[in-house]
Amino acid sequence: MSTMTVSRDHFPQDFKWGVATSAFQIEGAHDRDGKGPSIWDTFCAVDGKIADASNGHVACEHYERWSDDVELISRIGVNAYRFSMSWPRVQPDGQGAWNEAGFAFYDQLISALAQRGIELHLTLNHWDLPQSLQDQGGWVNREVCAHFTRYATEVARRFGHRVHSICTHNEPWVIAILGYEQGIFAPGIQSRKQAMQAVHHLLLSHGMALQAMRGLGLATAMGIVLNLSPIYPASDNPQDVAKAKLDDGLILRLYMDALFKGFYPQDVIEHLGADAPLVQPGDLATIAQPNDFLGVNYYTRNFSSCGNPWDVASTGNTVTDMGWEVYPQGLTELLCRLHADYQPLRLWVTENGAAFKDQLVNGVVDDVQRLAYIRDHIAATHAAMAQGVPVGAYFAWSLMDNFEWASGYAKRFGLVHVDFETQQRTFKNSALWYQNFLSEK
Ligand code: FCB
Repeated sequence: MSTMTVSRDHFPQDFKWGVATSAFQIEGAHDRDGKGPSIWDTFCAVDGKIADASNGHVACEHYERWSDDVELISRIGVNAYRFSMSWPRVQPDGQGAWNEAGFAFYDQLISALAQRGIELHLTLNHWDLPQSLQDQGGWVNREVCAHFTRYATEVARRFGHRVHSICTHNEPWVIAILGYEQGIFAPGIQSRKQAMQAVHHLLLSHGMALQAMRGLGLATAMGIVLNLSPIYPASDNPQDVAKAKLDDGLILRLYMDALFKGFYPQDVIEHLGADAPLVQPGDLATIAQPNDFLGVNYYTRNFSSCGNPWDVASTGNTVTDMGWEVYPQGLTELLCRLHADYQPLRLWVTENGAAFKDQLVNGVVDDVQRLAYIRDHIAATHAAMAQGVPVGAYFAWSLMDNFEWASGYAKRFGLVHVDFETQQRTFKNSALWYQNFLSEK
């Protein structure tokens, strides 16, 4: 483990320092005050889909405890908070009537954070699609793009002037590939063809929503968040090298080329053959809207191999509780590459963090590995900035332990520990470290 050190004063004054969460992972209150079911509510009810057979019914009870959680955020000393709105909470069917009680929840949350001088970064879709839209095909049905655009426009009309940024989608690759091709995330479908159509509709709806929201004349920054990582061939074998190029195409270039260059990469489209998405004339021009920021979620690097799966232990680096190698240099490399190849106006690290097995002993969680992870990735962010990459934000994932999707509550990413029996929150040492880092001007 390296021990690079940076301090806050190495970064510009206006750098955004944050923590991130998402609605389904923390809110609970799955059917309260008129909220409709999301695809994750449905998916959790299917036997065997969630490792600990849990669901989001209670989660961190953030829907009730939001005011205490605002205090936690404020105590850490961040100047920015990234959160998501639950679409089925504010529009139970994903079309038609708005749910005023749902909007009222976000209204009070936004006010409380703004009063503490914390910038709001709102994500419209962090995976919890209204179930009624899934009943009509979800992201595979082109009509979802118009529904999403109406939802985005309504949210921007109501809250756009009170939030610093709006992100359309969090990690379209995860939504489409894990949800519609591998079936390990909601909605649990296994079809590459459907997954690729979902990719296209996620990107198209991003472009449509951006166009519509821009029409409101707001100063709010608008963009998208992708999960990205550098991909290396597992060996010098030409087949592994070719596989790494294709995987980079499937994970990074398919999204980045479309969003920033207005085309899908030819090698990927050829590889997909009959599974390539149906694209209508004008779609790619709609997708390639100017973005005020590109959000990058980075956790680890990846290796591609045609033979045996890559053995993560072989690097000798620390491996997290998710089985992900700790590799901060990959973040520097990724940010430099995105800047060189695509020149987004601004890059924000919108998620970065690690799950480790924590132990709460006498009120203390001595999470040295998480602390080192965050510290070294902040240093890696700085290293990219030192090479001229316009990075403007770093958000740690996550504010607190929460519902980690198919892993349930067993994987803990929080800077703040949550006892899911009592809902008690306890600062881990990583949170105390971040607090201290942020207080050094
Ligand atoms: C990302 C998700 C986030 C969280 C982290 C660990 O893919 O955006 O919700 O689950 O992984």
